[in-house]
Amino acid sequence: MSRFGLALASLAGAWMITTAHADARSAAVPDRHSYAQPTLFRVTHADLDLAVDFERSRLTGAVALTVERHDAQARELLLDSRDLTIHGVTVSTEGGRPDMAEFSVGERDAVLGSPIRIAMPGAAKGAKHVVRIEYETQPEASGLQWVSPAQTAGKQHPFLYTQSQAIHARSWVPLQDTPQVRFTYTARVRTPRPLLAVMSASNEVDTPRDGDYRFEMPQPIPSYLLALAVGDLSFRAIGERTGVYAEPATLDAAAHEFADVEDMLETCERLFGPYRWGRYDLLILPPSFPWGGMENPRLSFITPTVIAGDRSLVALIAHELAHSWSGNLVTNASWNDVWLNEGFTVYLERRIMEVLYGERRRAMEDVLGLQSLQRDIESLRGAGDAALTRLAVDLGGRDPDVGFSNVPYEKGRLFLGFLEARMGRPALDAFLREYFDAHAFQSVDTATFRDDLQAYMQRHPQHAVSAGDIDAWIHGEGLPANAVLPRSEAFAAVDRQAADWLAGGDTSVLGTGEWTTHEWLHFLDNLPEDLGAARMAELDAAFDLSEVGNNEIAHSWLRNVIRANYAPGYGRLEAYLTSIGRRKLVKPLYEELAKTPQGLERARAIYAKARPMYHGMLVAQLDELLAPAPAGDR
Ligand code: BES
Ligand code: ZN
Repeated sequence: MSRFGLALASLAGAWMITTAHADARSAAVPDRHSYAQPTLFRVTHADLDLAVDFERSRLTGAVALTVERHDAQARELLLDSRDLTIHGVTVSTEGGRPDMAEFSVGERDAVLGSPIRIAMPGAAKGAKHVVRIEYETQPEASGLQWVSPAQTAGKQHPFLYTQSQAIHARSWVPLQDTPQVRFTYTARVRTPRPLLAVMSASNEVDTPRDGDYRFEMPQPIPSYLLALAVGDLSFRAIGERTGVYAEPATLDAAAHEFADVEDMLETCERLFGPYRWGRYDLLILPPSFPWGGMENPRLSFITPTVIAGDRSLVALIAHELAHSWSGNLVTNASWNDVWLNEGFTVYLERRIMEVLYGERRRAMEDVLGLQSLQRDIESLRGAGDAALTRLAVDLGGRDPDVGFSNVPYEKGRLFLGFLEARMGRPALDAFLREYFDAHAFQSVDTATFRDDLQAYMQRHPQHAVSAGDIDAWIHGEGLPANAVLPRSEAFAAVDRQAADWLAGGDTSVLGTGEWTTHEWLHFLDNLPEDLGAARMAELDAAFDLSEVGNNEIAHSWLRNVIRANYAPGYGRLEAYLTSIGRRKLVKPLYEELAKTPQGLERARAIYAKARPMYHGMLVAQLDELLAPAPAGDR
C-alpha cells in the first residue's frame, strides 16, 4: 500500500482500497512509446562508461544495466534504442561470470527507434542480471546536440548536451525508455582535457578538470531525466544548495539573473514538502537549446534566452525547480499523462512566483498563460486536432514532441486553480503534499490521480467537486465552463491605454513608463493583425522595439513585424532567427512568415543560414513547415 493510503487511512477506509487498486492498475498500463516490457524485467541501475568524441560526434563506451527479473519464464529482454551501433552484449546472473549473449536489433520505427532483443539465461523470479552493452552513438543521435565552438558563448571550445525527454534517451543509451521504470545510476565520462562534464547527478563543484569525471545518482529516476553536458563550464555558488554552471563569458550575467533560486527552493519546500534531491544547480546551455528549460534532476538545463538582465523571465526557473516535486518525484506514467507533470508544475511555479514577486506579477503570468492556451485550443481545433485539447490525451503512435502544446500546461494549471477555488488553498496544499509523499519516486497515470481525487472528494463533500466535474476536466475538450479564469488589473490598464492609442492617440497615451516585460508582452501580443507598417513605425520610433534586448519582447514584436510587413524590422528578424534555436521563440515566427508567398521565400532564405545551428527536433519540424527542404542534408 502507498504511504498516501496510510496517511489517510485514519480518515477513511475506502481510501486505502482505492489507492491499492489504482497502484496495481498503473503498473500494467502499457506505454505506447517504448518497446520495454517491465512486467518481465526491470532495469534498476545503470552504470555508464562513456568517452565523448567531439571529432566524430559520438559517445563510445558501455552501459551495464542491472536488471531485475519479474517473470521466471521470460527468455528475452527488450530494450529501446535509436540509431545505436551495438558492438557486443554480455549477461551475468546473480554476480556470476558474464557470458556473451545473443542479441538482435529490430527494424527502425520512425517514432520509436529499434528494439534490441537480448537472449537471457533462465533464473528465478527476483534474480538480478547484469546486462553489459558495448555501443556507440551516431552523429545524428536525436538526444544529443553537438555544438561547434562558433555556436558557443566563448567561441573556443565545442559543447555537447543531451535532451532525453520525451523519448530520446534511447538514442544515447540502450535502456527501457519509459517513465514507468526508475533506476539509479553511476557514470564515468571521459572528455577532452580542458572541458567539464556535468550530469543529472552528483556534481562535485571543485572537481579537477582532468577530463575524467565520475557521477553518482542515488535517487531512482526515469530515463527521460538522464542528462549529460560537456563544455567549457565554470561554476558559481548562489546559495547553500544552489548554484549555476555556465561558460565563463555568461557566468556573471547568469549568477545575477538567477540570484533568487535559493529563495525559490525554500519557498517550494515550505509549500509542498522537502526537496529530496540534495543540490539544485542550473546549467546555462548554448542558444541552440530547443527548450526553455529541462528539469534534469539536481541540474536543470536552461536556455540563455531568459537572461534578460532584469530577472523578468525567471518564472522558467521556478518551473524547472517545481518539477523536482511534480514530475521528477511523482512522474507521469506515460506521455499521454504529461499534464500530470506539466499542469501541476505550472501551478506550483505560479505559487512560487506569487510568494517571491507578488500577486500582481503572478496574475500577469497567469493571464499570459491563459492567452497562450486559448490560442492553442483554437489552432488545434482548426487543425482537426480537438482531441489534443483534452488533459488526458491519446497520442497513439505519434511523436510526443509533435503532439506538444500549451494544453497540458495551462489547462492543467487551470484544473488545479478550479480545485483551489472549490477547496480553498490550505486543503489543496495539504492534498498536494500528501500526493507527493504518497507517490514519491513512483509513476502515476491519469486514472490513478482521478481515483485519488475522487476518493478524497467523496470523503469531503463540502468541497462540492463531483465525479462529473473531475471527468469533464480530464476528458473534456477545450475549457470547461467552471474554469476560474485569471484576471490582471495591470493588463486591463494596458488594454485601456492601447485602445486610446489605436483610436488615434500619440504613443505617449500608452503610458509605457510603468510597464514591465509582462505589460509589453500583453500589449504586443494583442495588437490588431492589420495594424499596418505606419503604426509599427510609430512604435519603433518611440520605443526602439526593433533593438529591444529582451528575447520574449523581441519575439512578440517580430510577429507584428511580419504581420505588418514592417520592412525596417527584418534585419532584426534575421539576426534573431539565426542566433536563437529555442522552439517556442523561433517556430511561430517561421509559421507567421509562411502565411504569404513572399514571407515563405524570406523564411526559406533565413532558414538556410540558421539550420546548421538548430537542434534536430526543431530542424525536423521546420523542414516540414518550409518544405521543400533546402539542399544539403544535416
Ligand atoms: N519538461 C519540459 C520540457 C519538455 C517538454 C521537453 C516536453 C521535452 C518534451 C520543461 O519543464 C518545460 O516545460 N519547459 C518550458 C518552460 C516552462 C516555463 C513552460 C519550455 O521549455 O518552454
Ligand atoms: Zn515543465
